[in-house]
Amino acid sequence: MNAVPQTITGDVVLAADQLAKHYSVKRSMFTQGTVKALNGVSFSLERGKTLAVVGESGCGKSTLARQLTMIEAPTSGRLLIDGVDVAGASKARIAELRQRVQMVFQNPFASLNPRKTVEQTLGEPLAINTKLSAHERAERIARMMRTVGLRPEHASRYPHMFSGGQRQRVAIARAMILDPQIVVADEPVSALDVSIQAQILNLFMDLQAEFGTSYVFISHNLSVVEHIADDVMVMYFGGVAELGDKKTIFSKPRHPYTRALMSATPALFEEDRRIKIRLEGEMPSPLNPPPGCTFHQRCPYAIERCRKEEPLLRIVDGRHVSCHRAEEVGEADA
Ligand SMILES: Nc1ncnc2c1ncn2[C@@H]1O[C@H](COP(=O)(O)OP(=O)(O)OP(=O)(O)O)[C@@H](O)[C@H]1O
Ligand code: SF4
Ligand SMILES: [Mg+2]
Repeated sequence: MNAVPQTITGDVVLAADQLAKHYSVKRSMFTQGTVKALNGVSFSLERGKTLAVVGESGCGKSTLARQLTMIEAPTSGRLLIDGVDVAGASKARIAELRQRVQMVFQNPFASLNPRKTVEQTLGEPLAINTKLSAHERAERIARMMRTVGLRPEHASRYPHMFSGGQRQRVAIARAMILDPQIVVADEPVSALDVSIQAQILNLFMDLQAEFGTSYVFISHNLSVVEHIADDVMVMYFGGVAELGDKKTIFSKPRHPYTRALMSATPALFEEDRRIKIRLEGEMPSPLNPPPGCTFHQRCPYAIERCRKEEPLLRIVDGRHVSCHRAEEVGEADA
């Protein structure tokens, strides 16, 4: 696990080592192409903590989520859950690991079965995976509903009978019902009204405080990330741009892409707007990745070396960053 960041000293519950997922896609009638949706991502998640994953659309966040939750198998790289290497695990062990890692999706309307009541949605995993009696299951469901801020007397309701925020509470209850060690949440508040978002974020934080659950929390919204994260991983074009603890990253980002993301967030980073680090252009086509640094076509700091040589993830100023000029970034404009 040479590439797994060493800054984390606590108890690691989830570790990815050079995780990659490549998809084969049709380029034209006759030719195939490869999309490297995830291209060598390494990180560690500490038990009871939240790693926020940020980056613009198409950078590979959901692809990462599908690998971490074992919905898909990675093309290469290793995934360790609670020290168990998923690739080498038996079927029975994988089934057990799948219980320990649960997912919350962006849209609870799509992720909840419209024909199932809350009681059925929450009861099924308990019936399949535990030896609880029907009475005990009902008690557990009622308790979980209260924990996520729903009224147990609404257990016989269907998803459409709830508001958007309540539906996401049901989805969170479903993820939590088997007491998982890890929850991977993929943009869990971005489909909700802004007024509801803070409530759901606070629910995530309350659940973590109560159950010690570890989160991989995907969001494109840096204000959300600032609220919820312990550590932050900024992704760009399937790779890690910058990774470190929240305070380090937010107080002095060292990757030009992180700075560009932050300067696009109104409440953050006055100085970057002053020096006009803006995200211009679009991400390159995943079918036609640029040589060198994948950010060089959009980077205000790019130099000749960036067009030729891919920057490796390295430690600079207390965080991991993949930029040839990380030492200078954030210094000149101070
Ligand atoms: N099953 C697939 N087959 C082919 N390409 C895919 C597949 N899934 C994802 N991709 C491609 O992989 C890249 C990463 O996609 P992904 O959905 O992981 O991004 P994302 O960061 O979650 O974006 P968003 O913020 O829009 O949800 C994109 O270029 C996408 O088109
Ligand atoms: S390596 Fe070069 S192009 Fe890439 S982010 Fe750093 S300065 Fe910009
Ligand atoms: Mg996504």
